[in-house]
Amino acid sequence: MPEASSMREQNCPLLHLDEVDSTNAEALRLALAGTPGPMWILADRQTVGRGRSGRRWESFAGNYHGSLLLGLRCAPGVAAQLALVAGVAVIEAIAAALPAVAQQGLRLKWPNDVLVGGGKVGGILIETTTAPRHPGLLAVVGIGINLVAHPALPDHSAAHLSSFGPCPSPRDMHDHVDAALARWLARWGEGMGFAEVREEWMARAGSRGEPLSVHVGGEVVTGAYAGLDPDGSLLLETANGTRRRIAFGDVTVLAGLPPAKQA
Ligand code: BTN
Repeated sequence: MPEASSMREQNCPLLHLDEVDSTNAEALRLALAGTPGPMWILADRQTVGRGRSGRRWESFAGNYHGSLLLGLRCAPGVAAQLALVAGVAVIEAIAAALPAVAQQGLRLKWPNDVLVGGGKVGGILIETTTAPRHPGLLAVVGIGINLVAHPALPDHSAAHLSSFGPCPSPRDMHDHVDAALARWLARWGEGMGFAEVREEWMARAGSRGEPLSVHVGGEVVTGAYAGLDPDGSLLLETANGTRRRIAFGDVTVLAGLPPAKQA
């Protein structure tokens, strides 16, 4: 039964569905049909959950699947910063909902994977569109959090939060996500406050010098994490001392290897 409103305190209206193909796809359909946002779409189940780079997001019942539709006035390049804004908000929401997890190595991996104990517990997919009669961009911030189950993935380690301690329901988790994202969207100010977001993101990520490998197009680049540049791109120091600036890619933390030589 769709829930259009509730007695809970909410920053944005919520459409709560039992099942949908993808909450991001539903948000984009609503945008194209004239819904200006802000509006959350939450689903108990997704039949075709979408991940980054065209991958599938496995959507188990009991996990959190939510998308916030937002109208923006900023340029598309600035809207891309939403990936980092959402990352810091999600990590803050998880820390608020499950204080015990915050002690277990809760961190971000660029651009916006949320890890606990090295396993991925959360992912974020930002999609944008334009719509007739709507000035500016419409952005969808899609958030998946593994609360009670995680998929077995061949290429990276995943985890779910209930294995670390008592875990909220998806609807209760949503209250934390809604509150944290509203706070960070206000701080971000469509790019004006990105420096604060970037600082918080770096405080929630691994240490400088951490060895990483990054798939960039068909290339694999390895090096030492060197922070984010002012626009949020990943900075990597490679072994030959050159610094690479990476705007899009898939990162693997090379745990157990010594840090690459710093320039
Ligand atoms: C990733 O690949 O890490 C991003 C995963 C994003 C998954 C969420 S679940 C809610 C929203 N709806 C989708 O179809 N995808 C996002």
